[in-house]
Amino acid sequence: MDGEIPRRKFLQTAGVATTAAAVALTPGRSKAEQIAEDAPQAAAVPADAKNFVVLHQIVKAGRDNLMKNNIKAWNYLIGSADSETTLRHNRQALDQVAFKPRLLHGVGKVDLSSTLLGNKMRIPVLLSGMGSVGIMDPDGGRAVARAAATFGVACGVSSEAKPGMEEIGAASPCPKLYQLYVRGDDAWLDAVAARAIKSGYTAFCFTVDGAYFSRRERDIITGGQNAGLSDAPDPYLSGMTWDRVKRFKDRHKDLHVGIKGISSGEDAELAVKAGMSVVWVSTHGGRQLDHARGTMEVLPEVVKVAKGKATIIIDSGFSRGSDAIKALAAGADIVGYGKLQGYALGAAGEAGVVRMLEILEKEMNASAANLGAKTVAQLNPSYLVKATPVNPPSLFSAFPLLDIA
Ligand SMILES: Cc1cc2nc3c(=O)[nH]c(=O)nc-3n(C[C@H](O)[C@H](O)[C@H](O)COP(=O)(O)O)c2cc1C
Repeated sequence: MDGEIPRRKFLQTAGVATTAAAVALTPGRSKAEQIAEDAPQAAAVPADAKNFVVLHQIVKAGRDNLMKNNIKAWNYLIGSADSETTLRHNRQALDQVAFKPRLLHGVGKVDLSSTLLGNKMRIPVLLSGMGSVGIMDPDGGRAVARAAATFGVACGVSSEAKPGMEEIGAASPCPKLYQLYVRGDDAWLDAVAARAIKSGYTAFCFTVDGAYFSRRERDIITGGQNAGLSDAPDPYLSGMTWDRVKRFKDRHKDLHVGIKGISSGEDAELAVKAGMSVVWVSTHGGRQLDHARGTMEVLPEVVKVAKGKATIIIDSGFSRGSDAIKALAAGADIVGYGKLQGYALGAAGEAGVVRMLEILEKEMNASAANLGAKTVAQLNPSYLVKATPVNPPSLFSAFPLLDIA
Protein backbone atom coordinates (compact mmCIF):
# COMPACT_ATOMS: atom_id res chain seq x y z
CA MET A 1 0.00 0.00 0.00
CA ASP A 2 1.12 3.51 -0.76
CA GLY A 3 0.07 4.98 2.59
CA GLU A 4 -1.20 8.22 1.08
CA ILE A 5 -2.40 11.05 3.29
CA PRO A 6 -4.99 13.65 2.33
CA ARG A 7 -3.73 16.70 0.46
CA ARG A 8 -5.26 19.17 2.95
CA LYS A 9 -3.15 17.85 5.79
CA PHE A 10 -0.02 18.03 3.62
CA LEU A 11 -0.60 21.62 2.65
CA GLN A 12 -1.65 22.83 6.06
CA THR A 13 1.29 21.39 7.86
CA ALA A 14 3.65 22.74 5.22
CA GLY A 15 2.29 26.16 5.97
CA VAL A 16 0.91 26.32 2.45
CA ALA A 17 -2.41 28.11 2.05
CA THR A 18 -2.65 27.85 5.81
CA THR A 19 -3.73 31.22 7.01
CA ALA A 20 -5.21 31.42 10.49
CA ALA A 21 -8.64 31.74 8.91
CA ALA A 22 -8.19 28.67 6.69
CA VAL A 23 -7.23 26.24 9.47
CA ALA A 24 -9.98 23.87 10.58
CA LEU A 25 -9.81 23.73 14.37
CA THR A 26 -9.22 20.54 16.30
CA PRO A 27 -11.44 20.52 19.42
CA GLY A 28 -9.55 21.60 22.52
CA ARG A 29 -6.92 23.65 20.71
CA SER A 30 -6.91 27.36 20.02
CA LYS A 31 -6.27 28.57 16.48
CA ALA A 32 -2.83 29.86 17.48
CA GLU A 33 -1.93 26.59 19.21
CA GLN A 34 -3.03 24.56 16.23
CA ILE A 35 -1.01 26.59 13.75
CA ALA A 36 2.04 26.41 15.98
CA GLU A 37 1.73 22.67 16.56
CA ASP A 38 0.87 21.70 13.00
CA ALA A 39 3.59 23.83 11.47
CA PRO A 40 6.56 23.82 13.81
CA GLN A 41 8.65 25.55 11.15
CA ALA A 42 5.90 28.08 10.43
CA ALA A 43 8.13 31.09 10.94
CA ALA A 44 10.45 29.86 8.23
CA VAL A 45 7.88 28.42 5.82
CA PRO A 46 6.08 30.82 3.49
CA ALA A 47 2.29 30.55 3.39
CA ASP A 48 2.11 29.93 -0.32
CA ALA A 49 4.32 28.12 -2.86
CA LYS A 50 4.73 31.42 -4.67
CA ASN A 51 6.46 32.77 -1.56
CA PHE A 52 9.32 30.30 -1.83
CA VAL A 53 12.20 32.41 -3.08
CA VAL A 54 15.11 29.99 -2.88
CA LEU A 55 15.37 26.21 -3.19
CA HIS A 56 16.58 25.98 0.39
CA GLN A 57 13.07 26.97 1.55
CA ILE A 58 11.42 24.29 -0.58
CA VAL A 59 13.83 21.60 0.56
CA LYS A 60 13.38 22.56 4.19
CA ALA A 61 9.56 22.72 4.00
CA GLY A 62 9.42 19.38 2.16
CA ARG A 63 11.78 17.73 4.62
CA ASP A 64 10.00 19.05 7.70
CA ASN A 65 6.54 18.21 6.41
CA LEU A 66 7.34 14.69 5.26
CA MET A 67 9.38 13.90 8.39
CA LYS A 68 6.53 15.04 10.59
CA ASN A 69 3.58 13.62 8.70
CA ASN A 70 4.81 10.87 6.46
CA ILE A 71 8.08 9.43 7.71
CA LYS A 72 7.63 6.35 5.52
CA ALA A 73 7.53 8.51 2.41
CA TRP A 74 10.54 10.50 3.64
CA ASN A 75 12.70 7.44 4.22
CA TYR A 76 11.60 6.03 0.87
CA LEU A 77 12.39 9.31 -0.91
CA ILE A 78 15.87 9.82 0.48
CA GLY A 79 16.98 6.22 0.85
CA SER A 80 19.74 4.78 -1.29
CA ALA A 81 21.35 1.38 -1.59
CA ASP A 82 23.42 -0.23 1.17
CA SER A 83 25.98 2.28 2.51
CA GLU A 84 24.50 5.11 0.36
CA THR A 85 27.94 5.70 -1.12
CA THR A 86 26.66 6.13 -4.69
CA LEU A 87 24.47 8.99 -3.51
CA ARG A 88 27.60 10.72 -2.19
CA HIS A 89 29.61 9.89 -5.32
CA ASN A 90 26.92 11.61 -7.40
CA ARG A 91 27.32 14.81 -5.41
CA GLN A 92 31.09 14.54 -5.27
CA ALA A 93 31.33 14.16 -9.05
CA LEU A 94 29.35 17.38 -9.48
CA ASP A 95 31.41 19.19 -6.86
CA GLN A 96 34.62 18.10 -8.60
CA VAL A 97 33.75 20.41 -11.47
CA ALA A 98 34.20 24.17 -11.21
CA PHE A 99 33.30 26.89 -13.67
CA LYS A 100 35.76 28.90 -15.73
CA PRO A 101 33.75 31.95 -16.82
CA ARG A 102 34.49 34.14 -19.83
CA LEU A 103 33.66 37.80 -19.44
CA LEU A 104 32.39 40.74 -21.46
CA HIS A 105 30.43 38.79 -24.02
CA GLY A 106 27.35 41.01 -23.72
CA VAL A 107 25.14 38.04 -22.89
CA GLY A 108 21.96 40.07 -22.40
CA LYS A 109 18.84 37.96 -21.94
CA VAL A 110 19.61 34.26 -21.52
CA ASP A 111 17.39 31.80 -23.40
CA LEU A 112 17.90 28.17 -22.40
CA SER A 113 14.88 26.88 -24.29
CA SER A 114 15.53 23.54 -25.85
CA THR A 115 13.93 20.50 -27.48
CA LEU A 116 13.47 16.92 -26.41
CA LEU A 117 12.76 14.53 -29.29
CA GLY A 118 11.07 17.33 -31.22
CA ASN A 119 9.17 18.77 -28.25
CA LYS A 120 9.81 22.33 -27.17
CA MET A 121 11.08 22.75 -23.61
CA ARG A 122 11.34 26.01 -21.67
CA ILE A 123 14.57 24.73 -20.12
CA PRO A 124 16.35 21.40 -20.77
CA VAL A 125 15.03 19.79 -17.60
CA LEU A 126 13.12 16.60 -16.93
CA LEU A 127 11.27 15.54 -13.80
CA SER A 128 12.64 12.00 -13.47
CA GLY A 129 9.98 9.41 -12.67
CA MET A 130 9.47 8.10 -9.14
CA GLY A 131 7.71 4.79 -8.49
CA SER A 132 5.75 5.39 -5.30
CA VAL A 133 5.21 9.07 -6.00
CA GLY A 134 1.66 8.49 -4.74
CA ILE A 135 2.88 8.33 -1.15
CA MET A 136 4.25 11.88 -1.46
CA ASP A 137 1.18 13.44 -3.04
CA PRO A 138 -2.35 12.08 -3.30
CA ASP A 139 -2.41 12.90 -7.02
CA GLY A 140 0.81 10.95 -7.55
CA GLY A 141 2.27 11.06 -11.05
CA ARG A 142 -0.58 13.27 -12.21
CA ALA A 143 0.59 16.14 -9.99
CA VAL A 144 4.12 15.92 -11.38
CA ALA A 145 2.99 15.68 -15.00
CA ARG A 146 0.66 18.66 -14.60
CA ALA A 147 3.43 20.71 -12.97
CA ALA A 148 5.76 19.84 -15.86
CA ALA A 149 3.13 21.05 -18.36
CA THR A 150 2.35 24.23 -16.41
CA PHE A 151 6.01 25.20 -16.40
CA GLY A 152 6.99 23.80 -19.79
CA VAL A 153 9.28 20.81 -19.30
CA ALA A 154 9.05 17.03 -19.68
CA CYS A 155 8.50 14.33 -17.10
CA GLY A 156 9.39 10.70 -16.64
CA VAL A 157 6.65 8.32 -15.56
CA SER A 158 7.63 5.18 -13.70
CA SER A 159 5.75 2.01 -14.59
CA GLU A 160 5.17 1.73 -10.82
CA ALA A 161 3.65 5.20 -10.46
CA LYS A 162 0.05 5.71 -9.43
CA PRO A 163 -2.54 6.31 -10.75
CA GLY A 164 -1.16 4.54 -13.83
CA MET A 165 0.04 5.10 -17.37
CA GLU A 166 -3.27 6.08 -18.97
CA GLU A 167 -4.42 8.38 -16.16
CA ILE A 168 -1.10 10.21 -15.99
CA GLY A 169 -0.98 10.44 -19.79
CA ALA A 170 -4.43 11.99 -19.90
CA ALA A 171 -3.68 14.43 -17.07
CA SER A 172 -1.03 16.44 -18.88
CA PRO A 173 0.11 17.34 -22.38
CA CYS A 174 3.80 17.60 -21.38
CA PRO A 175 6.32 15.33 -23.16
CA LYS A 176 6.38 12.11 -21.15
CA LEU A 177 9.02 9.38 -21.04
CA TYR A 178 7.81 6.02 -19.81
CA GLN A 179 10.30 4.34 -17.45
CA LEU A 180 9.57 0.64 -17.70
CA TYR A 181 10.57 -2.17 -15.39
CA VAL A 182 10.16 -5.17 -17.69
CA ARG A 183 7.89 -7.71 -16.07
CA GLY A 184 6.80 -9.97 -18.88
CA ASP A 185 7.60 -11.64 -22.19
CA ASP A 186 7.76 -10.03 -25.65
CA ALA A 187 3.97 -10.13 -26.07
CA TRP A 188 3.59 -8.35 -22.72
CA LEU A 189 6.16 -5.76 -23.80
CA ASP A 190 4.36 -5.11 -27.08
CA ALA A 191 1.08 -4.62 -25.25
CA VAL A 192 2.64 -2.09 -22.84
CA ALA A 193 4.22 -0.24 -25.76
CA ALA A 194 0.88 -0.06 -27.58
CA ARG A 195 -0.73 1.42 -24.46
CA ALA A 196 2.09 3.98 -24.11
CA ILE A 197 1.71 5.06 -27.73
CA LYS A 198 -2.06 5.34 -27.36
CA SER A 199 -1.60 7.39 -24.18
CA GLY A 200 0.64 9.90 -26.00
CA TYR A 201 4.02 9.06 -24.47
CA THR A 202 7.01 10.57 -26.26
CA ALA A 203 9.50 7.78 -25.56
CA PHE A 204 9.62 4.34 -24.07
CA CYS A 205 12.63 3.82 -21.81
CA PHE A 206 13.82 0.59 -20.27
CA THR A 207 15.03 1.03 -16.70
CA VAL A 208 17.84 -1.50 -16.69
CA ASP A 209 19.83 -0.80 -13.54
CA GLY A 210 17.68 -3.09 -11.39
CA ALA A 211 18.60 -6.64 -12.36
CA TYR A 212 18.24 -7.32 -8.64
CA PHE A 213 16.28 -5.00 -6.41
CA SER A 214 18.83 -3.23 -4.23
CA ARG A 215 18.93 -3.36 -0.46
CA ARG A 216 17.60 0.02 0.66
CA GLU A 217 18.71 -0.28 4.23
CA ARG A 218 16.98 2.87 5.44
CA ASP A 219 13.67 1.26 4.48
CA ILE A 220 14.63 -2.17 5.75
CA ILE A 221 15.73 -0.90 9.18
CA THR A 222 12.68 1.33 9.64
CA GLY A 223 10.15 -1.12 8.20
CA GLY A 224 9.41 1.28 5.34
CA GLN A 225 8.15 1.10 1.78
CA ASN A 226 10.63 -1.46 0.48
CA ALA A 227 11.20 -3.37 3.71
CA GLY A 228 9.26 -6.49 2.83
CA LEU A 229 10.51 -6.98 -0.71
CA SER A 230 11.70 -10.43 -1.59
CA ASP A 231 15.39 -10.99 -2.30
CA ALA A 232 14.48 -13.42 -5.07
CA PRO A 233 15.47 -12.01 -8.47
CA ASP A 234 12.65 -11.03 -10.79
CA PRO A 235 13.02 -13.40 -13.75
CA TYR A 236 12.34 -10.69 -16.32
CA LEU A 237 14.39 -7.85 -14.84
CA SER A 238 17.34 -10.07 -14.06
CA GLY A 239 17.13 -11.71 -17.47
CA MET A 240 17.10 -8.56 -19.64
CA THR A 241 19.66 -8.49 -22.47
CA TRP A 242 20.76 -6.22 -25.31
CA ASP A 243 19.30 -8.78 -27.73
CA ARG A 244 15.90 -8.33 -26.18
CA VAL A 245 16.15 -4.54 -26.40
CA LYS A 246 17.22 -4.80 -30.06
CA ARG A 247 14.36 -7.20 -30.85
CA PHE A 248 11.94 -4.74 -29.28
CA LYS A 249 13.34 -1.83 -31.28
CA ASP A 250 13.11 -3.89 -34.49
CA ARG A 251 9.42 -4.51 -33.82
CA HIS A 252 8.78 -0.81 -33.01
CA LYS A 253 10.86 1.09 -35.55
CA ASP A 254 8.84 4.31 -35.26
CA LEU A 255 8.93 4.44 -31.47
CA HIS A 256 11.57 6.45 -29.59
CA VAL A 257 13.18 3.89 -27.30
CA GLY A 258 15.70 4.60 -24.57
CA ILE A 259 17.87 2.94 -21.95
CA LYS A 260 17.85 4.38 -18.44
CA GLY A 261 20.66 3.54 -16.08
CA ILE A 262 23.68 3.89 -18.38
CA SER A 263 26.88 4.11 -16.34
CA SER A 264 29.64 3.59 -18.89
CA GLY A 265 30.75 4.70 -22.34
CA GLU A 266 30.76 1.06 -23.43
CA ASP A 267 27.06 0.61 -22.68
CA ALA A 268 26.24 3.98 -24.22
CA GLU A 269 27.89 2.75 -27.42
CA LEU A 270 25.83 -0.46 -27.34
CA ALA A 271 22.67 1.60 -26.79
CA VAL A 272 23.43 3.73 -29.84
CA LYS A 273 24.15 0.58 -31.88
CA ALA A 274 20.81 -0.86 -30.75
CA GLY A 275 19.08 2.19 -32.27
CA MET A 276 18.16 3.91 -29.01
CA SER A 277 16.87 7.48 -29.25
CA VAL A 278 17.66 8.11 -25.57
CA VAL A 279 20.80 7.30 -23.61
CA TRP A 280 19.92 8.07 -20.00
CA VAL A 281 22.95 8.31 -17.73
CA SER A 282 21.71 7.49 -14.24
CA THR A 283 22.53 5.71 -11.02
CA HIS A 284 18.85 5.75 -10.08
CA GLY A 285 19.77 8.54 -7.66
CA GLY A 286 22.10 6.11 -5.85
CA ARG A 287 19.28 3.67 -5.15
CA GLN A 288 20.52 0.62 -7.04
CA LEU A 289 24.22 -0.30 -7.30
CA ASP A 290 26.18 0.92 -4.28
CA HIS A 291 29.73 2.21 -4.97
CA ALA A 292 28.90 3.22 -8.52
CA ARG A 293 30.63 6.22 -10.04
CA GLY A 294 28.86 9.57 -9.91
CA THR A 295 27.03 10.24 -13.18
CA MET A 296 28.90 13.50 -13.84
CA GLU A 297 32.12 11.43 -13.86
CA VAL A 298 30.58 9.00 -16.38
CA LEU A 299 29.18 11.70 -18.67
CA PRO A 300 32.29 12.55 -20.76
CA GLU A 301 32.74 8.95 -21.95
CA VAL A 302 29.05 8.80 -22.90
CA VAL A 303 29.24 12.11 -24.75
CA LYS A 304 32.19 10.78 -26.73
CA VAL A 305 30.19 7.92 -28.21
CA ALA A 306 26.58 9.15 -28.17
CA LYS A 307 26.56 12.93 -28.75
CA GLY A 308 24.46 13.76 -31.79
CA LYS A 309 23.42 10.11 -32.21
CA ALA A 310 20.95 9.92 -29.31
CA THR A 311 19.48 12.34 -26.78
CA ILE A 312 21.69 12.23 -23.70
CA ILE A 313 19.77 12.60 -20.46
CA ILE A 314 21.61 12.68 -17.16
CA ASP A 315 20.30 12.53 -13.60
CA SER A 316 21.35 11.48 -10.08
CA GLY A 317 22.48 14.00 -7.52
CA PHE A 318 21.37 17.05 -9.50
CA SER A 319 20.06 19.59 -7.02
CA ARG A 320 20.76 23.11 -8.27
CA GLY A 321 20.63 25.09 -11.49
CA SER A 322 24.43 25.28 -11.56
CA ASP A 323 24.53 21.45 -11.57
CA ALA A 324 22.46 21.40 -14.76
CA ILE A 325 24.68 23.99 -16.40
CA LYS A 326 27.74 21.84 -15.65
CA ALA A 327 26.17 18.80 -17.32
CA LEU A 328 24.92 20.78 -20.33
CA ALA A 329 28.39 22.28 -20.79
CA ALA A 330 29.86 18.78 -20.63
CA GLY A 331 27.53 17.64 -23.42
CA ALA A 332 24.29 16.37 -21.85
CA ASP A 333 21.10 17.37 -23.66
CA ILE A 334 18.62 17.15 -20.78
CA VAL A 335 19.07 17.08 -16.99
CA GLY A 336 16.75 15.10 -14.71
CA TYR A 337 15.76 15.91 -11.14
CA GLY A 338 14.29 13.21 -8.87
CA LYS A 339 14.52 13.83 -5.13
CA LEU A 340 14.32 17.61 -5.52
CA GLN A 341 10.88 17.12 -7.02
CA GLY A 342 9.96 14.93 -4.04
CA TYR A 343 10.91 17.71 -1.62
CA ALA A 344 8.80 20.16 -3.64
CA LEU A 345 5.83 17.81 -3.59
CA GLY A 346 6.21 17.42 0.15
CA ALA A 347 6.46 21.19 0.57
CA ALA A 348 3.47 22.30 -1.46
CA GLY A 349 2.22 19.57 -3.80
CA GLU A 350 1.89 20.35 -7.50
CA ALA A 351 2.31 24.11 -6.95
CA GLY A 352 5.54 23.38 -5.10
CA VAL A 353 6.95 21.54 -8.12
CA VAL A 354 6.06 24.44 -10.43
CA ARG A 355 7.77 26.85 -8.05
CA MET A 356 10.79 24.58 -7.78
CA LEU A 357 11.12 24.70 -11.60
CA GLU A 358 10.76 28.48 -11.64
CA ILE A 359 13.58 28.87 -9.13
CA LEU A 360 15.71 26.28 -10.91
CA GLU A 361 15.31 28.31 -14.10
CA LYS A 362 16.46 31.48 -12.33
CA GLU A 363 19.54 29.62 -11.05
CA MET A 364 20.31 28.18 -14.49
CA ASN A 365 19.92 31.54 -16.21
CA ALA A 366 22.19 33.25 -13.70
CA SER A 367 24.87 30.55 -13.96
CA ALA A 368 24.81 30.60 -17.77
CA ALA A 369 24.92 34.40 -17.95
CA ASN A 370 27.77 34.70 -15.49
CA LEU A 371 29.70 32.06 -17.40
CA GLY A 372 29.26 34.07 -20.58
CA ALA A 373 26.71 31.85 -22.38
CA LYS A 374 23.35 33.00 -23.68
CA THR A 375 22.02 29.70 -25.01
CA VAL A 376 22.45 25.97 -24.45
CA ALA A 377 24.34 25.78 -27.75
CA GLN A 378 26.94 28.20 -26.41
CA LEU A 379 27.69 26.03 -23.38
CA ASN A 380 30.72 23.81 -23.91
CA PRO A 381 33.48 22.04 -21.93
CA SER A 382 35.78 25.07 -22.11
CA TYR A 383 33.69 26.53 -19.28
CA LEU A 384 34.56 23.62 -16.96
CA VAL A 385 37.69 22.79 -14.97
CA LYS A 386 38.55 20.17 -12.33
CA ALA A 387 38.15 21.30 -8.73
CA THR A 388 38.62 19.99 -5.22
CA PRO A 389 35.23 19.70 -3.48
CA VAL A 390 34.93 21.96 -0.45
CA ASN A 391 32.09 20.11 1.32
CA PRO A 392 31.86 16.45 2.27
CA PRO A 393 29.20 15.14 -0.14
CA SER A 394 25.84 14.27 1.40
CA LEU A 395 22.12 14.33 0.72
CA PHE A 396 21.91 18.02 1.51
CA SER A 397 25.44 19.23 0.76
CA ALA A 398 24.03 21.37 -2.05
CA PHE A 399 21.87 23.11 0.57
CA PRO A 400 24.18 24.28 3.36
CA LEU A 401 21.81 26.98 4.63
CA LEU A 402 18.87 24.82 5.74
CA ASP A 403 19.34 25.99 9.33
CA ILE A 404 18.52 29.57 8.43
CA ALA A 405 16.11 28.97 5.53
C1 LIG B 1 11.59 8.02 -4.58
C2 LIG B 1 12.17 7.61 -5.90
C3 LIG B 1 11.56 6.59 -6.63
C4 LIG B 1 12.10 6.22 -7.85
N1 LIG B 1 11.46 5.26 -8.60
C5 LIG B 1 11.93 4.95 -9.84
C6 LIG B 1 11.24 4.02 -10.67
O1 LIG B 1 10.21 3.47 -10.30
N2 LIG B 1 11.76 3.76 -11.89
C7 LIG B 1 12.90 4.37 -12.35
O2 LIG B 1 13.32 4.15 -13.49
N3 LIG B 1 13.58 5.24 -11.57
C8 LIG B 1 13.11 5.56 -10.35
N4 LIG B 1 13.78 6.46 -9.58
C9 LIG B 1 15.00 7.10 -10.09
C10 LIG B 1 14.69 8.42 -10.78
O3 LIG B 1 13.99 8.21 -11.97
C11 LIG B 1 15.99 9.21 -11.06
O4 LIG B 1 16.83 8.41 -11.83
C12 LIG B 1 16.69 9.64 -9.79
O5 LIG B 1 15.77 10.09 -8.82
C13 LIG B 1 17.65 10.78 -10.06
O6 LIG B 1 18.43 11.05 -8.93
P1 LIG B 1 18.11 12.17 -7.85
O7 LIG B 1 16.99 11.66 -7.01
O8 LIG B 1 19.38 12.28 -7.07
O9 LIG B 1 17.74 13.43 -8.58
C14 LIG B 1 13.26 6.85 -8.34
C15 LIG B 1 13.87 7.85 -7.58
C16 LIG B 1 13.34 8.23 -6.37
C17 LIG B 1 14.01 9.33 -5.58
